[in-house]
Amino acid sequence: MRKSIIAGNWKMNKTLQEGISFVKELESKLKNKNVNCDVIVCVPFIHLVSIYEIIDTKIIKLGAQNNADNSYGAYTGEISAAMIASTGAKYVILGHSERRVFYKETNLSLKKKVELALKNNLIPIFCIGESLEERKSAKQNMVIETQMKDSLFSISANDFEKIILAYEPVWAIGTGETATSNQIQDMHTFIRKIIVNKYGQAVANKTSILYGGSCNENNAKEIFANSNVDGGLIGGASLKIDTFLQIIETF
Ligand code: 13P
Repeated sequence: MRKSIIAGNWKMNKTLQEGISFVKELESKLKNKNVNCDVIVCVPFIHLVSIYEIIDTKIIKLGAQNNADNSYGAYTGEISAAMIASTGAKYVILGHSERRVFYKETNLSLKKKVELALKNNLIPIFCIGESLEERKSAKQNMVIETQMKDSLFSISANDFEKIILAYEPVWAIGTGETATSNQIQDMHTFIRKIIVNKYGQAVANKTSILYGGSCNENNAKEIFANSNVDGGLIGGASLKIDTFLQIIETF
């Protein structure tokens, strides 16, 4: 019905040489395995071209970690969705909490980014998640619903079907603290219900919803056992071949 996906978010890690040798080794190991999910690596912009050249995209798919909220022009230092697409990459992480918090990305700027990604045939891996304060004051559902409404709900059902969602509670990212299985299942069920209400059951059934936040080789199995969890967006544990492979093999 919908795809299971394990995506690695390298964030600002690995030199070009380290990245190249990592994907070579990952691909050679994946070749001999029965893999039951899509495997995506989301790498720094400047690695995209070199990595695309050496991967078999049937085995490893390639994504970026951001795109600009404008199409082109005088925006020094920015990278457009068209530029990313021109490298061969097919995915782009948008709305990661590190970009929302450190680079002040808003639901509105993310709406523009999502639209530009889709226009350029990139598949957004759209991150949503609440802060610890918001969770403590039981505002998580409201926060998630607002993030989805303000950034995604202007797009057509046809386009929404292409999007991958990633629920990443901010308090669980890089902290070693994972959300509990119940918290994850509750939130993923809530997210799917929001999609049902807006786009209908058929679209909701097709949308992959990943979990991210201190997901590793030890907790992956329990997390992915939840019926509404369709895979993971993995940070730290995607940087080492062994741990990333073990997470992939959970499927
Ligand atoms: P960690 O797996 O390192 O907690 O990071 C999760 C994340 O932010 C993936 O986008």
